[in-house]
Amino acid sequence: MSGKPYASASVRNAAPILSALRHEFRAAASVLEIGSGTGQHAVTFATELDHLTWQTSDLQQSHDGIKQWIAEAGPSNVLQPIALDVLTATAMPASFDAVFSANTAHIMSYAAVCRMFEFAATALPEQGVFFLYGPFSRDGVFSTSSNAAFDESLRARNAAMGIRDLDDLDAMARRGGMSLLRIYAMPTNNLAAVWRKRGDDECQ
Ligand SMILES: C[S@@+](CC[C@H](N)C(=O)[O-])C[C@H]1O[C@@H](n2cnc3c(N)ncnc32)[C@H](O)[C@@H]1O
Repeated sequence: MSGKPYASASVRNAAPILSALRHEFRAAASVLEIGSGTGQHAVTFATELDHLTWQTSDLQQSHDGIKQWIAEAGPSNVLQPIALDVLTATAMPASFDAVFSANTAHIMSYAAVCRMFEFAATALPEQGVFFLYGPFSRDGVFSTSSNAAFDESLRARNAAMGIRDLDDLDAMARRGGMSLLRIYAMPTNNLAAVWRKRGDDECQ
């Protein structure tokens, strides 16, 4: 048994996320993943979506695990992680057709989430999409008492963490020139939200 990091949630949520990604990333060639975590999603999605080049990234401390997953199970279209802390990074490493992030917005501070949206907007070309998966509230309301309890436990652990509201995220996206395209209901009361970068001639 190898010592690779393992997140059981990444196994459980991979199929519904993949199903949405097949549609949303059908026209993309390059994807930046922000906060790749263990690297399991990257390996799974790059294997299944072999038209994509999947760039992993995370804080430096997660890189060894991501590299292990890539070494043991990664297809050739998944790239070694780049160090990307959205709070402190000053520039995007490159431009990408799509940006993906899962279960990051409630872990990052609010300021870091703002920066993540700025980065996504900067990285994307017109019509490029930002796909964000996780637990979110809507109109300030949690969909379930378990999400409310999860939010409370996050904030007790670290006051900077917490479940974000989709309205706030959408405002961040709009500031970066992105429009909400779709929201997918996902298992266990999670959502996936997809924003698309507007063209210059589109209404704001
Ligand atoms: C709960 S994990 C999710 C990992 C993976 N995406 C998944 O769904 O299993 C949150 C991830 O966000 C990353 N993260 C936290 N703060 C970050 C920041 N400021 N910039 C980039 N990544 C960050 C963490 O290192 C961690 O890998």
